[in-house]
Amino acid sequence: MEEQLPPHVLIFPLPMLGHVNSMLKLAELFFISGLHVTVLLSEHNHSLLLRQGSLNSLLSRYNGFQFATISDGLPDDHPRSGKRTMDIMMRLMEVGESQLRNLMVSTDWLSKSESGDGVVGLKRRPVTCIVIDGVMGFATKVSEEMGIPFIYIRTCGACSFWANFSIPEVINADEIPLRASYQKRKEMDLPVTSVPGMEGILRRRDLPVFFRVHDVNDTILQTIKTETRKTTKARALILNTFEDLEGPVLDQIRKQIPKLFSIGPLHAHLKVRIAANPMESSARNSGSFWEEDRSCIVWLDSQPHKSVIFVSFGSVAVLTRDELLEFWHGLVNSGQRFLWVMRPDSVIGKSDIPAELEEGTKARGYIVGWAPQEEILAHPAISGFLTHAGWNSTLESITAGVPMICWPCSADQPTNSRFVSDVWKIGLDMKDTCDRVIVEKMVRELMEVRNDEFLDKAEHMSNLARKALSKGGSSSSNLDSLIEFIRSMIA
Ligand code: UDX
Repeated sequence: MEEQLPPHVLIFPLPMLGHVNSMLKLAELFFISGLHVTVLLSEHNHSLLLRQGSLNSLLSRYNGFQFATISDGLPDDHPRSGKRTMDIMMRLMEVGESQLRNLMVSTDWLSKSESGDGVVGLKRRPVTCIVIDGVMGFATKVSEEMGIPFIYIRTCGACSFWANFSIPEVINADEIPLRASYQKRKEMDLPVTSVPGMEGILRRRDLPVFFRVHDVNDTILQTIKTETRKTTKARALILNTFEDLEGPVLDQIRKQIPKLFSIGPLHAHLKVRIAANPMESSARNSGSFWEEDRSCIVWLDSQPHKSVIFVSFGSVAVLTRDELLEFWHGLVNSGQRFLWVMRPDSVIGKSDIPAELEEGTKARGYIVGWAPQEEILAHPAISGFLTHAGWNSTLESITAGVPMICWPCSADQPTNSRFVSDVWKIGLDMKDTCDRVIVEKMVRELMEVRNDEFLDKAEHMSNLARKALSKGGSSSSNLDSLIEFIRSMIA
């Protein structure tokens, strides 16, 4: 009897929006492909997503799709946002291993159902494979103890993953630390020659933010190095990217990690698979932590074709009041229409509108607290995206064919923004400056002066993404191979 049951995959994302969002899409893709899936969320995120109604469509559409939860170790009243977001990761690294171990030994995986509509849960095998977010190496210990094979997924791009993987080479080449003068333009502009395959692309300022250290023994840098190198222990690596976007970097990674499945962009891949399956209804964003203000779609509907720049810095980035004002002046002075996502926790200090900007904002701007980003990027009124270059936002913009101005804030973003501007040439990189004159100049350049050029290149890249997802395309074939690989683990 048991032989007829499909594999059962436990998917364990870091409980932060950028990670949960894309890994829920992976979970859905697996489920549609016939695997049994359990997604492991933090208790906090699980109840947040249920409260938002974000998980309801998943649970009602897929009989047997299930969640398990563990505590993230933070007190209930911890904000888990803004400047305090990283506490989630640090605390989970302390408490996650024992929580996961307890869950794995105590859960009756066979009979759980969350649908709440009287549907009896599917009979399923105990977990046959764990897909671990590759920033949570502690989970591999539990996997190994229990003899369950594990696969890593990284929710960042291949370019920043590879830069992180190359930390030992960068240190050996003495290209970091950046010494006391690291903020001086001259040293930050020196080329990086020690990341294989990226010679001639990266300057020191383009390395992930973790590289900006005065001492190579820096705790965060060393943690990233150790965690990233652990990837070689996984049975395979999944990346949310596609071959035509990052092929040369993927070739480099395959020299170290041959079993590499590039299956992105995940958000669009899911839409394609759902459309191809008449049994499924349309994909909805299942990983949004906050309520979307849809009034901005009504506003967009009333704007001319390709006239609006969308401004959003993701779910974590925090601006100072000074930075906010530089962007605000730059946008208003550019004379362009703008739709701006200003999360309530995204500004240190006041975010109220300065009197001198009121008129220009009312005339051409619209501000919301959280928006349906994928839908906005696909809207015909949008012609540009001022973004922090988080990997999900970058992929969503690429898929929609929207050129970008990148203002990277943290983590992988400086590397992503370099690829946007200098490798794919679908936008401009504004890293390490925040000045109203530069904001205005870049917005004009993107939206007026070089708009046709950028739109052409962005459309080309969007077509390549579509090709990767079509039948026989690289991401589509790689997903099929990945499913087969997971099935082979129980054969
Ligand atoms: C984080 C890191 O910052 C990022 O660099 C890393 O690559 C992934 O994890 P985040 O900062 O939130 O993520 O950025 P990003 O990866 O771009 O993810 C943001 C997500 O929130 C996107 O999927 C975007 O569509 C969504 N979003 C954003 C909304 O749905 N509505 C909004 O108003 C803003």
